[in-house]
Amino acid sequence: MTDFARRYADSLMNTFGPPKLTLVRGAGAHVWDSEGAEYVDLLGGIAVNALGHAHPALVQAVTDQLSTLGHISNFFASEPQIELAERLLALVDAGPGKVFFTNSGTEAVEAGFKLTRRTGRTHVVVAEGGFHGRSMGALALTSKEAYRAPFEPLPGHVTFVPFGDAEALASAVTGETAAVLLEPIQGEAGVVVPPDDYLAAARRITSEHGALLWLDEIQSGMGRTGLWLEHHRSGVTPDVVTLAKGLAGGFPIGACVALGAAADLLQPGNHGTTFGGNPVACAAALAVLRTIEAQGLLERVTLVGQKLRDGLLADPRVTEVRGEGLLIGLDLSADASAEVAAAALARGFIVNNPTPRRIRLAPPLVLTDDDVDAFLTAWPLILDVAMGAPT
Ligand SMILES: Cc1ncc(COP(=O)(O)O)c(C=O)c1O
Repeated sequence: MTDFARRYADSLMNTFGPPKLTLVRGAGAHVWDSEGAEYVDLLGGIAVNALGHAHPALVQAVTDQLSTLGHISNFFASEPQIELAERLLALVDAGPGKVFFTNSGTEAVEAGFKLTRRTGRTHVVVAEGGFHGRSMGALALTSKEAYRAPFEPLPGHVTFVPFGDAEALASAVTGETAAVLLEPIQGEAGVVVPPDDYLAAARRITSEHGALLWLDEIQSGMGRTGLWLEHHRSGVTPDVVTLAKGLAGGFPIGACVALGAAADLLQPGNHGTTFGGNPVACAAALAVLRTIEAQGLLERVTLVGQKLRDGLLADPRVTEVRGEGLLIGLDLSADASAEVAAAALARGFIVNNPTPRRIRLAPPLVLTDDDVDAFLTAWPLILDVAMGAPT
């Protein structure tokens, strides 16, 4: 055990298990640990470090804003906050709307959940396998039994339906349903993509019953899949979109974006936050948006993602590769994802193993061709170590 590992164990709550490494610095898609070893970060802080580590545009924006006006509370407005809200509404591109800023994805979901209660209805329909956060509200909307059971009773009147099954959704939604909440691609489940017409069906079903369609793009949004927002691929117009993770490239921020009539459901006194909409976080997000645009990263994400998916699938020990852009999930031919992640780490690549058979990649959008080539070259060797030679 290193000195850091001992100090961590003695001073931090054991909610995450022992950390794999202690990281000390990063640059681009690379990080270095406390022993000086270098890694290609193919997880990007779990789909967060859109511009990689220590990107000059992000460093500059945060430094400039912090040296000008760091925090003000929501008794006051700041220009970055207003500009970011305007930019997000333009990106969602679904007409007039309003934004509530938070500090995390969970809090954006919490805001969305409270907003649904203001419809006068309480029933929410959510997909099995979906993940929306760990607060009592967000957990109530998250299906995983192991996460929920220790904290029951959670807020109720939530129905879970199989993800991707439009018929099941149609049966669950009634005139009492306030909202249907879906991830356009389920991230924590191991990157699960629904059928092409699923979101359109969800839109039709919710509209028929006067319910809100709420899309959680906390993981799939902000360029990760090669589109600003993954739901744009389906052409649907939601009522609520939640964002976080990559939005400010690693600076904590979340946003609950409500469109049309839903934008006015939360009224003075209904919700609040001390830090949400903080000018530094908003300036960081604006820098991320500007850089993605200026560097044409959406197009690049599509190309690099395809190259990665093709390369990963070429190995016979990979049975399926899913996802869009740089949100990639793959299934192994055996329950060996922990061994694969460990073998990858030992060779200098950070990947994630969300389920026993699934590997997830969500690297920085600035991942270079050299990084991709290095990983694809190492991939069969990683699988040899973790799973043995192909049969
Ligand atoms: C789709 C989705 N919603 C909500 C959350 C919760 O976000 P956070 O961890 O920032 O609270 C996550 C985190 O993984 C997520 O993937």
